[in-house]
Amino acid sequence: MKTISVDIKDVFSTVTPAAVEALDSKGAEALDKVMNGTGEGSDFLGWVNLPTDTTDALLDDIIATADRLRATCDTVVAIGIGGSYLGAKAVIEALSDSFSSLRPGVQGEPKVLFAGQNIGEDYLYELQDYLKDKRFGIIVISKSGTTTEPAIAFRLLKEQLERQLGKEEARNRIVAITDAKRGALRTLATEEGYKTFVIADNVGGRFSVLTPVGLLPIAVAGFDIRALIDGAVEMEKATATADPATNPSMLYAETRNALYQAGKKIEILVNYNPKLHFFGEWWKQLYGESEGKDHKGIFPAAVDNSTDLHSMGQWIQDGERTIFETVLSVEESRYTKEIPADEANLDGLNYIAGMRVDHVNKMAELGTRLAHVDGGVPNMRVTIPALEEKYLGQLIYFFEKACGISGYLLEVNPFNQPGVEAYKRNMFALLEKPGYEKDTEAIKARLEKN
Ligand code: PA5
Repeated sequence: MKTISVDIKDVFSTVTPAAVEALDSKGAEALDKVMNGTGEGSDFLGWVNLPTDTTDALLDDIIATADRLRATCDTVVAIGIGGSYLGAKAVIEALSDSFSSLRPGVQGEPKVLFAGQNIGEDYLYELQDYLKDKRFGIIVISKSGTTTEPAIAFRLLKEQLERQLGKEEARNRIVAITDAKRGALRTLATEEGYKTFVIADNVGGRFSVLTPVGLLPIAVAGFDIRALIDGAVEMEKATATADPATNPSMLYAETRNALYQAGKKIEILVNYNPKLHFFGEWWKQLYGESEGKDHKGIFPAAVDNSTDLHSMGQWIQDGERTIFETVLSVEESRYTKEIPADEANLDGLNYIAGMRVDHVNKMAELGTRLAHVDGGVPNMRVTIPALEEKYLGQLIYFFEKACGISGYLLEVNPFNQPGVEAYKRNMFALLEKPGYEKDTEAIKARLEKN
């Protein structure tokens, strides 16, 4: 059975195998907290058994809903932010033709676009302008049902859809994914009679990609969500035991904590395949929101190579030695492309004529790894057999499980995010939201003083 794997041999120039093994017993305790709900934040462990708990009935419902949207829409806008956006975006980008948006028919209809992940006025204007002659549908996703960014986008797009189609028909083109009972979106969905899916109380946003939050947009984009879940099930089983030799999540979690203890405060997730750019964004949210608290935590960054070797490459090779890298290495590319010979050879490239582009890319990857390790940047490597649904399912679950273990190793609650409330409070005060009168007064006084 092909599977993703983790190789840590290139960290041993910085930490010894004994330093990683020293975390085995704490790692086993951390895994126990994740598996048995004995740690802080245990109310949010619904994702742990989620792959095996996913029923055929739920998958059938998601696929039937996706098929209905695919039949009636040429464009579907998935509205959401953070965990209600990044997982679907990451998987769709990883599986899509790089130019599908310019090539109608390559992956069929509909195109999946995203909104509510920013408050860009131009973005929203241009999106609405694009949609004005489209047969579009909406998947609106918010666990809390009260997040400002997606609420603004939904208000705009709902009004547009109703204007273009009439309220009755618009209703059939909107699907809401939210809490079972609470929140403004649940109330609205019930009042309007939208098709809905539930985000379980015990699954936090950043751990929700394998719920309808991620699965519905991925299915609408035409990808195989059963294979995605199958891959996650495989990884759920592979990461159940407390042996880093067989549990890749434990190995990764322990190694990154050993590196952190050795002063490596920044982890850079590196890819050599542009399709993985948004996987890096998803991973940053998962680890950033889970670990960055109590004034602790590895700072998660990401680069796309070889593109970024021509920008961040200098810093990584030669800058402050507080970083380590985790390289996502894809074994097999989807297509083959050989570099042609050229009689004139003016560009001097005939020495690689006949080689596959992927071989050159692999040599860039290997050469970079060796150079970075020589330069004092320890490297871990996560090998992915291919960019296919099953392996992405494995990869998602692998990182989720490792994140829970790693957070407990760091002695933080990996499942809350108290720090994201501070900006909201200020923004609501500045916008004079009802209920924030005292904050408004205080913030105005503070700004006047400044
Ligand atoms: O991981 C999280 O909990 C957050 O990033 C949320 O996903 C994000 O804030 C969106 O929240 P909601 O789905 O409630 O709109």
